[in-house]
Amino acid sequence: MIVNHIISIQKKRLIKILVLSVFILCTTSLQAQTLNEIDKAITVKIDSIISLLTIEEKIAMCHAQSKFSSTGVPRLGIPELWMSDGPHGIRAEMNWDNWDYANWTNDYVTAFPALTCLAATFNPGLSKEYGVSLGEEARYRGKDVLLGPGVNIYRTPLNGRNFEYMGEDPFLASIMVVPYIHGVQQSGVATCVKHYALNNQEHWRGHINVEVSDRALNEIYLPAFKAAIIDGESWSIMGAYNKFRGEHCCHNQILLNDILKNKWSFDGVVISDWGGTHSTEESIYNGLDLEMGTPSNNNISKRFPYNNNFLGQSFLDKIISGEVEEYILDDKVKRILRLMYRTSLDKNRPFGSINTKAHSNTAYRVATEGIVLLQNSDIFLPINRSANITIAVIGENATKSMTIGGGSSELKAGYEVSPLEGLRKQFKNATIIHSPGYSSESKSEKDKQELKKEALSIAKTADVVLFIGGLNKNHSQDSESSDRQHYNLPYNQDDLIGSIAKVNKNTAVILISGNAVSMPWRNKVMSIVQSWYLGSEAGNAIASIISGEVNPSGKLPFSFPKKLLDNAAHYYGELSYPGNGDTQYYKEDILVGYRWHDTKKINPEFAFGHGMTYTSFKLSAIISDKKNYSSFDTIKISCNVENTGEVNGSEVIQVYVGKKNSKVKRAFKELKGFKKISILKGGSKEINIFIEVDKLAFYDETISNWNIEKGDYIIYIGNASDNISKELKITII
Ligand code: BGC
Repeated sequence: MIVNHIISIQKKRLIKILVLSVFILCTTSLQAQTLNEIDKAITVKIDSIISLLTIEEKIAMCHAQSKFSSTGVPRLGIPELWMSDGPHGIRAEMNWDNWDYANWTNDYVTAFPALTCLAATFNPGLSKEYGVSLGEEARYRGKDVLLGPGVNIYRTPLNGRNFEYMGEDPFLASIMVVPYIHGVQQSGVATCVKHYALNNQEHWRGHINVEVSDRALNEIYLPAFKAAIIDGESWSIMGAYNKFRGEHCCHNQILLNDILKNKWSFDGVVISDWGGTHSTEESIYNGLDLEMGTPSNNNISKRFPYNNNFLGQSFLDKIISGEVEEYILDDKVKRILRLMYRTSLDKNRPFGSINTKAHSNTAYRVATEGIVLLQNSDIFLPINRSANITIAVIGENATKSMTIGGGSSELKAGYEVSPLEGLRKQFKNATIIHSPGYSSESKSEKDKQELKKEALSIAKTADVVLFIGGLNKNHSQDSESSDRQHYNLPYNQDDLIGSIAKVNKNTAVILISGNAVSMPWRNKVMSIVQSWYLGSEAGNAIASIISGEVNPSGKLPFSFPKKLLDNAAHYYGELSYPGNGDTQYYKEDILVGYRWHDTKKINPEFAFGHGMTYTSFKLSAIISDKKNYSSFDTIKISCNVENTGEVNGSEVIQVYVGKKNSKVKRAFKELKGFKKISILKGGSKEINIFIEVDKLAFYDETISNWNIEKGDYIIYIGNASDNISKELKITII
């Protein structure tokens, strides 16, 4: 009897499982439903599946099964989750359980420009296009989660990973990150916004404890993450390596539970950075859902090698003993299942595509729109591409691959056009001679002198010198896990550029970097072009800017201080950066980047928002729609933009706001709106920029909330933070 009863229970369970498995896999046509309905339908499904899972199955879903995947439940048709770096292309396949590449032959990809370049476009539409292309490549490569975008704020020019982020301004980063996320996720691939939060340096990243005020946290370091979660609806987020107020960010009560999951109602998955998990207890209670990158323990158990993860056996033991209640485990698993329904279990997701012409075009467009023309004395650039001249191209970066190196964002690019190749393709009538002039490899003094001598000899006789140098993706340059050791250009480039300019005044410097550098040679050269890590289309894009095929329109997403001590984080000394080995204090508080330069009246070498063009623009008729606004109003700024030059071009109109006589400390002004606009030569357009009054609020620590101060504000309208055409006074009543 009893046996029969058990068999019948088992049969019933089996039938239920079968029905549900079919139910899971055949997601009903979700297309016709609204997003809300889809979410509700998914929640119902998840609730029913959870009861079918054993505790062991649920635990297994909460940690890695290999370097870049976590396990599913095959008997129920629950798939594995596959992840890939990010953030500017899909990384090559790695081995199952070590950091070596797997040497596949079908994992070549389009390398898109790094995110500093994307931010420098100031073009949210292009960010969407970027996301769409990237999502398609991720999907084609079978990825469910893309480990990016990165939105840590640019605090110091020494941070080795700034090139993966979107600059120093929280407003710019917030506006640019949202369309990227929408673009990627429309392919049914989740973005994983990283590194949440305060991972603003690589030095000591695994343990440094960041102490920062609530105000700076909310006004400077969190807004881009908040926008990514609330407006972008990113389906996952990655915890950072460092600590915040004593707790590692991958299991941090304040960041993950209080802010992310409670205040921002995040219903997706918190994924640890690889190896960023340090405690079972904190991981269980402080918001981590999926532990990745903790080393496996192959020696002990080959069958369950990741059991030793913090959310592995020890988590299981605590559930079985009753020390931890199962609903805590269920919450993590439900989030993971929800992520699957949004990605791998969405049967409507497209198939994706890779290495297409369209993706190359996107990479080229972003690269050309992001390159920033910093200086152009006597309209030295552009150089006529049909001219019959000799061009000396000097510098190692003219030929060095920049898709290789840099850490986890390294790519196996299907192709990468070097600057030298790009120039040779476009300047067909010119004689182009290349000489590296310096080397990033260790060389004897004699060899270094030889390189310099050779470069100077070609510089002397050339009509034009294009010096293509800067940083690179080597360790201690623009690269993960270490910071730069100084603010100067490495490998004696400062001296080399100075010597070149002495023998040939017709010199332009093209800097390839993701960071600001000092420029002691600035006044000795004619032009300076800030080129980022541009990916597959690098050389084509650089050549197009040099030749004027494309009119530059990029704007700096971060300030270039004249010297390191002019940067706020460094001004306050070692305790501020890099810290005392244990803790660092963000003493500059809210005055990051141009907020510091403006407020303290320290002129930068090049200011945030600066970027020149081969034409000229005139802003006129700059007005606000009213003089007085209530806290619920939206301020409308109108402006006429005229292209007064000889070529078509694009300009970024920037609107900053500052509060006079504030009762709290304020930055002199802060970016609150911008618009990029293309105008034919001789043409003009009227633009409107809207600012909601509540965006002028400061984070008031006395009430732990945003506070809109009443009174007079100045609105600054211009085309760079240091080039303001008009100031308007308005009043919040
Ligand atoms: C990096 C992450 C990356 C992960 C996986 C970590 O070292 O900090 O950004 O996504 O590795 O490669």
